[in-house]
Amino acid sequence: MKIGIIGAGNIGGTLGRVWSAAGHEIKFGVREPQSAKFNSLRSAGEVSSVGEAAAFGDVVLLALPGSAVADFAAHNAKSLAGKVIIDAANNVGSTTMHNLDTLHRHVSQAQLVRAFNSLGWENFAEPQVGGEQIDLFYCGDLAARDTAEQLIRDVGLRPIYIGGVETAAALDGMTRVWFALVYGQSKGRHVAFKLLIDQG
Ligand SMILES: NC(=O)c1ccc[n+]([C@@H]2O[C@H](COP(=O)([O-])OP(=O)(O)OC[C@H]3O[C@@H](n4cnc5c(N)ncnc54)[C@H](OP(=O)(O)O)[C@@H]3O)[C@@H](O)[C@H]2O)c1
Repeated sequence: MKIGIIGAGNIGGTLGRVWSAAGHEIKFGVREPQSAKFNSLRSAGEVSSVGEAAAFGDVVLLALPGSAVADFAAHNAKSLAGKVIIDAANNVGSTTMHNLDTLHRHVSQAQLVRAFNSLGWENFAEPQVGGEQIDLFYCGDLAARDTAEQLIRDVGLRPIYIGGVETAAALDGMTRVWFALVYGQSKGRHVAFKLLIDQG
């Protein structure tokens, strides 16, 4: 797949490297593409402007601060139309952590997914804990489900679909639980969730 990644920090850099290794074509979108701080990422994908990365991807991952998403969506609405947009950006400290309403307002016919928001990036770099595969809970438009699940599996995680975009607030509750464990209970950042289902 062609994936445009907006933001090339912890989340964008980690997922870009992993997806590149899995055979996807990556373009990172950043504000200063020439900066030397992105040199270690250039083997994983081209480092370009935000607009170029948004236009490039069939899938676009939002890995920038939540506070920057509305502006990004407004400026790139045309190139984003009809694409799969994966929202990993958190509005930390706000009542609504996700950006799906903002994206829906600005971008027509996009297929929205909320994923990679509920765990720290360390869990995407190392998708097992104690030999157990980490589950990644996600939600979003049904039409994007196959794409989302492939990209989650390509990171080495097991996808767990919790429902449509209307379940994003519930999913953000998991982010809050992760924060409470990591920052409130000092569990370390390589901590994740597992769904257990009685198949009997
Ligand atoms: N860190 C985690 O473990 C984690 C886990 C799940 C979700 N998230 C969410 O993922 C997002 C990224 O987190 P991160 O830890 O990767 O942050 P980060 O390391 O600080 O990276 C953020 C990236 O976004 C870029 N950026 C900042 N403001 C921008 C703007 N106005 N327009 C375009 N690009 C901009 C930064 O570029 P510059 O270098 O130019 O500033 C940087 O490349 C956040 O919304 C965060 O809440 C983080």
